[in-house]
This record gives sequence, structure tokens and C-alpha cells, in this order.
Amino acid sequence: MIYLDNSATTKPFPEVVQTMVRILTEEYGNPSSLYQFGIQAEKQVKHAREQIARMLRTSQEEIYFTSGGTESNNMAIMGIIQADRGRKRKLITSAIEHPSVMEVFLSLEQQGYDVVYLEVDREGYISLEQLESEVNNETLLVSIMHVNNEIGSIQNIKEIGNIIKKKNHSTYFHVDGVQAFGKVPVSVKDSNIDLYSISAHKIHGPKGVGALYVKKGTRLQSLFLGGGQEKGYRSGTENVPGISGLGKAVEIYYEHQQEYIEHLIALKRDLAERITENIEQTAINGPSVEDGAPHILNISFAGIRGEVLLHALEQKGVLVSTGSACSSRKKDQPCTGSNRVT
Ligand SMILES: Cc1ncc(COP(=O)(O)O)c(C=O)c1O
Repeated sequence: MIYLDNSATTKPFPEVVQTMVRILTEEYGNPSSLYQFGIQAEKQVKHAREQIARMLRTSQEEIYFTSGGTESNNMAIMGIIQADRGRKRKLITSAIEHPSVMEVFLSLEQQGYDVVYLEVDREGYISLEQLESEVNNETLLVSIMHVNNEIGSIQNIKEIGNIIKKKNHSTYFHVDGVQAFGKVPVSVKDSNIDLYSISAHKIHGPKGVGALYVKKGTRLQSLFLGGGQEKGYRSGTENVPGISGLGKAVEIYYEHQQEYIEHLIALKRDLAERITENIEQTAINGPSVEDGAPHILNISFAGIRGEVLLHALEQKGVLVSTGSACSSRKKDQPCTGSNRVT
């Protein structure tokens, strides 16, 4: 099998699996328990928190574990909305967000919020001028994805953060970093980011676990009521095996980040060259091979439907996707992302 769908999900690193098996079989204590066996579990969670904080260049007190990118995005946006109690009504996002962001804004719009969906150019970039003109005193939150999951555009997060805070220092800035984390370096502090979402299964970690960076001082309401884990932000017994698997994946990424990025760019360049040189009427969508994210390549082939090509390739053991995996089975509602690129 040639697996070319790593934006949908990745194969866990062997070290991740080993860590998780060890925790499931030997160190299965509850991190809230007061005896040593529980404290050991708590240490595992803390270690994972430190790995993520180091990668985002922030402190471990600002990292909260979740069940994945979808929950992190919901927790960020809805948590800000609920804490504000309807005082500010303007929200800004982009037209190519992942459904776990887009669907939240569509629902908020139905509830009466004024939501601006910033259009993107052919390469998938928002207009910084348009962003600047839209942020005002009424703007509660701006949510912009770091790397687009379908065409790989990398937004200029630092500049976006600067613009937002210059126009209104109290506007919150959330970034869906699920496709960027580990592959595009980021410093949440330098980019004025208040909330940053990540997911383990995109970086060779397990599925169903992720994290949210929440800057100290952010007014965020918890979406879950319960035992008060994660400093009350996310009640529920911690998924210690998953969290430790995430921590291990991040640790490996941190140690080899530059090497991985260069390897991915070389593979992407090679694949793009071979396809465009050997097959007629192909077009690379989104940013150029050099400008886009190192792991995402989106190509059109004239005269054949994407799904037909996908299954023909599958017959030969090559797995690709025609759009985001989240939506590929929803025929009537294709992914908001692919729909809205102008
Ligand atoms: C950009 C982006 N955001 C969020 C998600 C959702 O992450 P998860 O699958 O961990 O819920 C994905 C997953 O495809 C994604 O690509």
C-alpha cells in the first residue's frame, strides 16, 4: 500500500504505540487519585503537556487536553462566546475553515451573531486589508486556520495576530492549528494567539485526543460540567494513554522537526514534478509547491472525475483523497472548505 492520505490521518509511530500499551497495561492509574499509582499517571499527563508547550513555545500551564481537533475548536469558539454572554456580537472567520470551525460559526450566525466569512484568493489566502477593515470595537473573536487541510495554504498568522491586536486589543484570536502543528513552526506568543487547536492523529499520534492552548487571562467558559479536571476547563477523567501517545509523538516531532519538514518538501516536490511532467492537463491547486504546507499537494486532472481516479488508484494500492475526509461521505453537503475557494 502506498498511503498518500496523511492529512486525513497518520500511522502512529511505533514509540507512540509502545508508550500507550505500557500505560494501558501497567500504568493505568487515575491521575486524580492521591496514592503513588495515581501520581505516576499524573506525571505522564504533565510530561505530555510539557512537550506540547515546548513545541508552541509557551508554558505548560496554558495547555488543556481534549478529545481532538474538533473538540478543541468547539471549546475555543463556544467557550469564548459563552464567557462573553452576548455582549459583543461580531465574529470573523475565513471562508475555507474546517467544518469543526465553520459549522460552529454557521450555528452562531443563526443565533443572531454577525459573522464575517473572509474570502480567500486562488491560493487560499485571506486579504489582510479586508481583515483590518473588519475588526472593530464590537469584534469578540477572530478564528483563522493556520494551514488549510485541502490545498495547504499557510496563513500569515503572525501578521494576522498583529493586525487584530492593533485594531482591538481585547479581540480574541483563535487558530485552528491541526494541520500546521509539527509541520509549520509557530510561537503562539510571538503571533498574539490566544487559543491554538491541535490534534494527535495528524502527527503520528493516536486518534481521539488533542489539545488547546489557552493564553493565561483568556475568559473562557467550560463546555463540560463534572469533576473539574484540566483546571475546570475540561471535566472527565483524562485519556492518559492517548495523552501520553500525543506527548510521545510531539517529542519525536520536536527532535526531528527540521529533518521531517525537509523530507516532506522533497517528497512533495518530486511527486508534483513527476505528475505534471508525465501527465497532460494537470494543474496544481492552491499555493505553489514551495509556498504551501510541506505535506499537502492538491492536483486537478482534466477529463476524469476525482472519485473515479481515487478508486482507480486504490486498485493499484495507492490511497489518496479528493477532499477532506470529514465530508467525503456527505454527498449533499460537501466540505465547506473546498466549496468556497474562489
Ligand atoms: C484543519 C483541521 N481542523 C480540525 C480537524 C479535526 O480534527 P479531529 O479529527 O482531531 O477532530 C481536522 C481534521 O481533519 C483538520 O484538518
